[in-house]
Amino acid sequence: MQRTPNQLLVIFGASGDLTERKLIPSLFDLFQQGHLPEGFAVLGVSRSGGDDAEFRRRVALENRHIPETIGNHGRRKEFAEKLHSMALENGYDGDYTALRERIEALQQKENTGRNCLFYLSVPPSIYEGIARRLHEQGLTDQGEGHRRLIVEKPFGYDLATARQLNTSLQQYFEESQIYRIDHYLGKETVQNLLVTRFANSIFEPLWNRNYIRHVEITNAESVGVGKRGGYYDGAGALRDMFQNHLLQIVSLVVMEPPIGSDAESIRNEKVKALRSLRIMRDPEELSAHTIRGQYLAGEIDGQQVPGYREEPGVDPHSTTETYAAIKFYVDNWRWAGVPFFVRTAKRMPTKVTEVVIHFQSPHHQLFREEHLDSKDNKLIIRIQPDEGVLIKFGVKVPGQGFQVERANMDFYYSDLSESRVMDAYERLLLDAMQGDATLYARADEVEAAWEFVDPILDYWKHGKDVPTYGYTAGMWGPRNADDMFEGPHYWRNPGAHLRDDPAFCIIT
Ligand code: BG6
Repeated sequence: MQRTPNQLLVIFGASGDLTERKLIPSLFDLFQQGHLPEGFAVLGVSRSGGDDAEFRRRVALENRHIPETIGNHGRRKEFAEKLHSMALENGYDGDYTALRERIEALQQKENTGRNCLFYLSVPPSIYEGIARRLHEQGLTDQGEGHRRLIVEKPFGYDLATARQLNTSLQQYFEESQIYRIDHYLGKETVQNLLVTRFANSIFEPLWNRNYIRHVEITNAESVGVGKRGGYYDGAGALRDMFQNHLLQIVSLVVMEPPIGSDAESIRNEKVKALRSLRIMRDPEELSAHTIRGQYLAGEIDGQQVPGYREEPGVDPHSTTETYAAIKFYVDNWRWAGVPFFVRTAKRMPTKVTEVVIHFQSPHHQLFREEHLDSKDNKLIIRIQPDEGVLIKFGVKVPGQGFQVERANMDFYYSDLSESRVMDAYERLLLDAMQGDATLYARADEVEAAWEFVDPILDYWKHGKDVPTYGYTAGMWGPRNADDMFEGPHYWRNPGAHLRDDPAFCIIT
């Protein structure tokens, strides 16, 4: 484990939900595991936050997102001592002299040294203003210690705003100081995509157009938009999930082997991968290769749930998509002609994210089989939940002749019970504290992703008669969802557990 230098973490937007739900619980876990340095403190900055005592009580001592376990009460108190709070009297766009003075005082008192990590958990519209004011106070200067900036998604609203945001942040921080967080990259199973591909010699030789027929990625959530209707209605599934989390997964599936495991080598290959996605501009192609949908009232797990338009904060006439399915091609040597099918949606029957590699049928069919297409070899990489890997392969049915069925070969992360899996935020915060940007998105990656997404957004907004299909909550999307597949193929609708995947077996 790398050494984590002493430092002060300054969270902007400390009164918000993310601080309470994710950031502080992750820091507490890091504290419990002994990963925080000796000299460490948090300064929670907000417009209206209370004093230290109130902040400590809310985010640490009485935070329901930090589970109460035997013996952790004393540890919570010890951890809470590291937390401090400051309200910016004139808001985020006032003068930061008092903030600089508070930072300097804490650096002394808490022995954090001059290293500072700034976390922006505020609306993107004020990122630039905060960066500028930090710069005016000399707080971006790395002369005496590192100064890093973590920014939350959404990183831009489209390509133009993402570019603008990159340019404005880069006026005050070097690119190497900017950490764009995508919490999917913090998930062990997403990182395992790299290991599955590049630490084994059994998959990579097959990982190309000669052996792969198509690639399918599903990200399904059973939850609706909940209280986030106001934000979500202006964003939609394509901006909320596809442009960032899903295209990050795509880049790991598509990329070429990097020359090393360092941040720049990996990110260089990811950018190349994203740039090789074929950008769709032709309305006919966009119409055939994209589907958007919106959930209607329905039932999930026996509970009646409202339709999207009935959710708080949502325009009752909204056509914003809560379901997005995109088919596309990758224009490079490895992937020419292989279709990718990627979908993301809310109010699906279950929460699941997985990558499915569908292999070609054997070139010469020796055995006569029925429904061959559904029996092809598949490699299923389960990102969440029930994290693991499943391979479906043909076995002979005992008896006369050569009847073939598909059997499952599986691996589960939970079987590695001795290793504790870090939560995504925990891992990403620790990496940023240590200066490892491998799992953060670089400016050019984010822009390449927007370049692919922009024309789809534009078509959905301005295209002629582009439908938003309704689907009943608790169903696998609109009825025509399978229409984008050619031939006898369709979406694989997985169960909550990898084990739910049916395979041939004989019950005696
Ligand atoms: C967030 C999206 O980035 O990811 C949410 O804004 C979504 O809409 C969430 O629910 C899903 O994250 P996870 O880790 O639960 O799959």
